[in-house]
Amino acid sequence: MNAGLIGTGKYVPPHILTNADLEKRMDTSDEWIRTMTGIEERHIADDSIDTSDMAYHAAVDAIADAGITPDEIGLILVATVTPDQPFPSVATMIQEKLGAKKAAAMDVSAACAGFMYGIVTAKQFIESQTYDYVLVVGVEKLSKITNWEDRNTAVLFGDGAGAVVIGKVSEGRGILSFELGADGSGGKHLYQEEKLVMNGREVFKFAVRQMGESAVSVIEKAGLTLDEVDYLIPHQANIRIMNSSRERLGLPLEKMSKTIHKYGNTSSASIPISLVDDLANGKVNDDDVIVLVGFGGGLTWGALCIKW
Ligand code: ACO
Repeated sequence: MNAGLIGTGKYVPPHILTNADLEKRMDTSDEWIRTMTGIEERHIADDSIDTSDMAYHAAVDAIADAGITPDEIGLILVATVTPDQPFPSVATMIQEKLGAKKAAAMDVSAACAGFMYGIVTAKQFIESQTYDYVLVVGVEKLSKITNWEDRNTAVLFGDGAGAVVIGKVSEGRGILSFELGADGSGGKHLYQEEKLVMNGREVFKFAVRQMGESAVSVIEKAGLTLDEVDYLIPHQANIRIMNSSRERLGLPLEKMSKTIHKYGNTSSASIPISLVDDLANGKVNDDDVIVLVGFGGGLTWGALCIKW
């Protein structure tokens, strides 16, 4: 018996902020942002939509897609660095709203790798047969910690949520292998003081190296070779970082998920949001071997190899 992703859902707030809108607010250009990051627009939540609201909407869709009811969920894990407030956790907020009365609930803090940490934690509880279903949500309202005076970071981020239900799948399917890691010595490169602070160049170098290494590592751990991989879903942080991990795997452009142009970097939400879009567009199909790989503040990283 293996743990697998049996339901998916996403939510992005309706308001779209384009590069042209940013040109009016700061000294930047559509051309610079597109070339240097791959971003064209991002969704931004207004004051009426907090992190828990986005998490709730994505969770409702994932639960319906899994064909279960909220009271069958044993655990709710919400990966976020932008909770509504330090406590109670976003996980407990949506537990109540969903009516998931039998679920334990907690938030996971691993920045952009948080969704990977959540999935791997969920997998342990499924495979030990502790719970039948675990809900994992990646959600961020990064706009509330974005320094809108800092053009180096303000153009990068967006808001949104993605959710999955983890449950049992048959042997040989689901999560075949994983890798998680952290290097606290790099914490100084990406952190929140009041607003988000980033040393873009250092994060860039780390990400290029780590994304490639982690992707290769999970493929080997799954007993597969690079040419058996059908699709890559990297954390959508920067198109140049994404392409370098794709090239490491020798995958053509069309076998890599790319949603960064529409959503920007939504941190822990970027991989599940991409997965939902890729399933809808027929880019991820039954029996595909897919690799998910993320990195983020901490520094942290995580990767999964999944047979869909
Ligand atoms: N518009 C126009 N010019 C800009 C902008 C902007 N928005 N931002 C920076 N520049 C300028 C800089 O001032 C600099 O000008 P200078 O040469 O005159 O000093 C020039 O562009 C180059 O800037 P660099 O920072 O050196 O460019 P770099 O190639 O490093 O790209 C970027 C910057 C896109 C931020 C890149 O470093 C990057 O993507 N880093 C990783 C970011 C990332 O993945 N973050 C994940 C964090 S997610 C999380 O944990 C929440």
